[in-house]
Amino acid sequence: MPSESRIENPLLHPFLFTYQLGQVLTDKILSPNPHNPSQPLTRPKLAIIGAGITGVSAAAHCVGHGFDVQIFEAGDEKQLGGIWSRVNNTSSLQIHSLMYRFHPSVQWQRGYPDRQQILSQLGQLWKRYGLDKKTKFNMKVDKVYQDEKGLWIINSPSNGKFDGVIAAVGTCGAPKRPHIPGIDKFGGQVYHSSELTGKRARGKKIAVIGGGASAVEALEFAAAEEADKISILARSDKWVIPRNAIIDTLFAFNIFGQETMFSWIPEKLLKKFFYRDLEDLAPANKGLFTDTPMVNSDVMDKIRAGKAEWVRCDIEEVVENGIKVNRRAQGVPSGGPGREDVIEADMIVLATGFSRPSLSFLPNDSFEEPYGAPNWYLQTFPPSHPSVSAINCTYLAGIGSVGNWHIGIYTRILLMFLVDPLTRPSTFWMERWIDMTKLLKAKSPTGAFDFFTYLELVWWFAFCVAFNPFRWKWAFFVFFGLGVALPRRLVEVEDTIRNGLGRPTSDRVNRDQGVSF
Ligand SMILES: Cc1cc2nc3c(=O)[nH]c(=O)nc-3n(C[C@H](O)[C@H](O)[C@H](O)COP(=O)(O)OP(=O)(O)OC[C@H]3O[C@@H](n4cnc5c(N)ncnc54)[C@H](O)[C@@H]3O)c2cc1C
Ligand SMILES: NC(=O)c1ccc[n+]([C@@H]2O[C@H](COP(=O)([O-])OP(=O)(O)OC[C@H]3O[C@@H](n4cnc5c(N)ncnc54)[C@H](OP(=O)(O)O)[C@@H]3O)[C@@H](O)[C@H]2O)c1
Repeated sequence: MPSESRIENPLLHPFLFTYQLGQVLTDKILSPNPHNPSQPLTRPKLAIIGAGITGVSAAAHCVGHGFDVQIFEAGDEKQLGGIWSRVNNTSSLQIHSLMYRFHPSVQWQRGYPDRQQILSQLGQLWKRYGLDKKTKFNMKVDKVYQDEKGLWIINSPSNGKFDGVIAAVGTCGAPKRPHIPGIDKFGGQVYHSSELTGKRARGKKIAVIGGGASAVEALEFAAAEEADKISILARSDKWVIPRNAIIDTLFAFNIFGQETMFSWIPEKLLKKFFYRDLEDLAPANKGLFTDTPMVNSDVMDKIRAGKAEWVRCDIEEVVENGIKVNRRAQGVPSGGPGREDVIEADMIVLATGFSRPSLSFLPNDSFEEPYGAPNWYLQTFPPSHPSVSAINCTYLAGIGSVGNWHIGIYTRILLMFLVDPLTRPSTFWMERWIDMTKLLKAKSPTGAFDFFTYLELVWWFAFCVAFNPFRWKWAFFVFFGLGVALPRRLVEVEDTIRNGLGRPTSDRVNRDQGVSF
């Protein structure tokens, strides 16, 4: 069943038509065929924890290549889609959907799809690959451990045994609602930024606490509702970059994945051509390549038009008619000197983020210092367990996108490790790669794995395959999902040789024990 799509008229929308045509071709060439239900899927079998875009996409890749999976999701079926199932109807992608192709079969109808379209594409993917029959909802994973043969058990043996595990629990758990002194005295309404669907803001004064992507979304919501005044109360500075696929891709193409001696160039260009008269909103002491920037162009226009105000401040307390703050000038850090002010408000929006889901269900040895997350092999494989990959849930900050090609690449690297013992890295070599990355990024203002760009990620993948001749036969499969049959046949030949030498074949060895470099 192909994904539902409506192709635009090429004369009226030539760019969108070309984009859509590209997506149809990508689907035809790169999407693995859905599995035929009459044929059994083979081992290795994988447990996938979380049914957001990462878990569903990873599961679709596994099943499409003939590997069995079971998805465990803490929420009920309405939470298919993870965080996107729990945010406002008005939420949409900030980054261009070209960088949000979480599976080759995804068919975006526009550059910046909204929540409904994202959930609809995910639902179609889930059904297309028969994952509806392979998802256990209301199943929070608390414990992941191994039996004596090294097979993974999820919570209890009654849930089956697995050769590999993909943790896809995301980074956005429950909404964070910090206690702000005086909030009980406030005369208006208080909502978290993820609860704005259906709320009325017309003619009201809206104060948004927080200066991240959700604050910008709350600003867009309030502006669309024709609020009287919108104040964003930000205690720390973040970079804002324009909503432009080419510019954002260029930023994501910094191969060093960190601030370098050349970073002043994009920073200066941003200030001159994007911030312009609002240059004092740009972070004074924080480089572009140190924290995830917000991707938005409207925010500047709304501030210029006087519809919104960006207040760099610390929150003192909530009073009956608003919020008492300490306004600070550019470059003055949080807690520094400023001037007291009361921001009047009828509605407070807490854009204070989400708590991070825990990975503590993984075995303790996955977190041994100095190799605790995110300091893992390729940031996702704990060095003590090459049969586990924690995709999209270990990162702190970066420029790129969470929902892109790399979900498939990480999944296929894990499949390669599970199927072919000669490719599976040993703990020793995984730790050396981590040490090497730390050394290469020793001058970075952030920790080596605390910030990365998309090109750096691609380089990691290239390194992972190019450096090890045993992995060369897997290159097309790892990068494009093509040609799994050939490397599998070669592994069978290697198995025959191994058998002849009296050594265990690939399906008999502990899939968590790495021997390669
Ligand atoms: C409003 C909004 C807009 C965003 N826009 C963008 C964007 O434009 N570009 C971008 O790249 N990113 C964006 N993001 C970030 C977003 O988090 C990712 O794009 C992506 O949706 C993450 O998907 P995920 O599957 O990794 O995690 P999630 O969607 O968070 O899914 C994780 C799932 O795991 C389940 N789970 C957690 N713990 C357990 C457990 N112990 N046992 C079982 N199940 C568990 C959760 O219930 C959840 O369903 C946005 C986020 C928000 C909130
Ligand atoms: N469309 C999109 O692309 C989109 C939209 C929404 C969210 N997201 C993603 O979702 C994730 C979460 O984003 P988010 O904006 O919800 O959260 P966030 O990035 O964690 O930002 C939270 C903001 O709230 C501030 N804050 C927290 N507690 C506070 C307190 N007690 N007093 C004052 N300020 C406080 C933080 O300040 P400090 O920085 O000083 O801590 C920060 O500015 C991010 O990965 C983001 O990229 C994406």
